[in-house]
Parts: sequence; structure tokens; C-alpha cells
Amino acid sequence: MATERTLSIIKPDATRRNLTGRINALFEEAGLRIVAQKRIRLSDLQAGAFYEVHKERPFYASLVSSMTAGPVVVQVLEGEGAILKNRSVMGATDPKKAEPNTVRAQFAESIEANSVHGSDSPENAAAEIAFFFAGTEILP
Ligand code: CMP
Repeated sequence: MATERTLSIIKPDATRRNLTGRINALFEEAGLRIVAQKRIRLSDLQAGAFYEVHKERPFYASLVSSMTAGPVVVQVLEGEGAILKNRSVMGATDPKKAEPNTVRAQFAESIEANSVHGSDSPENAAAEIAFFFAGTEILP
């Protein structure tokens, strides 16, 4: 399998509970390298644009407000099959459906405050990485 990069976000519900290190340990134990990382506060405009694809969903306004409620850690994860690997480390969107030991099974508070985001395809990974990082900020 090819080396890939994926965009990960540790969400405000997780940064509030000081879980960044424990979540990063799960990524690293799975063989994902954190090749870029920064802690930022998203504006309404940024969160709205990032989740534009969900604009018509009933949870959009609440999602944007939960993503701006505190700092997030945006990061680029690199590794073999990183996109799918990260999704299996994260677990299902709904923590009630997430496999045991996944990030969301262990840490998510709800389907919305689900601790992490990860890109779901190579196309989205490229677009989402470019949304937050310049090429010079990514250091394998
Ligand atoms: P994420 O992987 O970041 O992608 C979209 C986000 O929308 C998702 O995680 C959740 O935070 C949120 N989300 C998805 N489905 C629902 C839902 N049914 N109700 C509330 N929030 C949701």
C-alpha cells in the first residue's frame, strides 16, 4: 500500500479535556507519523467553510459552533494507507457504534462532540491538508 497523508483534527471537546497527547499516542502506536501539527482557534468562517459539504444538514450550525467553542489541533498524519488507517483508529462517527479501543469509543462525548475528524478520501485529504497547511509546514 502507498504512503499517504491525511488531515486530522483533534476537536474542542478533546482539547478541553487535555486529551491531545493520549490521542496522538494512539495515532503513533498505529504507525501514523504526525508530520505537521498546530493548535489554533477556528473562526465561524473557517469552520463553516471546512464543513461546507454539510451545509444543508440539520446539525450544521451546531457543528460549526462546537468546532469554534475552543482550540483545535490540526495535524497531518502520514503512513501506509494513512486515510483508512486513521479512520480505523478514530472509529465510527457515532461513538455508540465505534469499535472498542478506538479514539471515539474511548473519548467521544456524543455523535457531534466526537473528539476527532479525519479525511475520508484521497481527494478530500489533499483539499483538507491544503486548507490548513502550506507545503513548507509539513516535515516528514
Ligand atoms: P466529522 O468526522 O468531523 O464530520 C462531520 C461531523 O459532523 C462529524 O464528525 C460530527 O462531528 C458531526 N455529525 C455527523 N453526524 C451528526 C449528527 N447526526 N448529529 C450531529 N452531528 C453530527
